[in-house]
Amino acid sequence: MWIVFAQSMVITLSHELTVNSNKTIDGRGAQVHITGAQITLQGVRHVIIHNVHIHHSVPHAGGMIRDSKHHYGRRTQSDGDGISILSSSNVWIDHVSMSSCADGLIDVVSGSTAITVSNSHFTKHDHVMLFGASNTEEQDRMMQVTVAFNHFGKGLVQRMPAAASASSTW
Ligand SMILES: *[C@@H]1O[C@H](CO)[C@@H](O)[C@H](O)[C@H]1NC(C)=O
Repeated sequence: MWIVFAQSMVITLSHELTVNSNKTIDGRGAQVHITGAQITLQGVRHVIIHNVHIHHSVPHAGGMIRDSKHHYGRRTQSDGDGISILSSSNVWIDHVSMSSCADGLIDVVSGSTAITVSNSHFTKHDHVMLFGASNTEEQDRMMQVTVAFNHFGKGLVQRMPAAASASSTW
């Protein structure tokens, strides 16, 4: 599914937004801002997020949240990441502008791999990117993440990126 936007808009999420497999979110031709809560990719493949602005994500208590057309269920608290990628692969984050979230701008954990972050712009944030949650996560040894042609702009503090050392390639 290729999601495009007919006009510019600010989407203020009231809880985390879970993205399913085989989705492209394409903000070309409009100014699309997604704020208020994190975007979560969990257990999915083949997702592209392109040309959107993601900022001011804050933590939310969990609750009953739809995660697909056919299912919704109880989810625990979301941390206020920008984009949280868990147990997922083949994800391309491109031409995305991100700033000022509560936790990480992009966290890639729990055995995720084949993730590319390119041509994106990051500003005003403390924990920018985390690849692998800890040095003891064996499932993250195979993680491959490409970070290319990004701009690490003003007001960033740390994790540009941080990679847990259980990963064999860092
Ligand atoms: C994604 O697309 C592939 C290829 O068409 C298909 O095999 C797979 O079932 C799809 N996954 C989901 C969750 O829809």
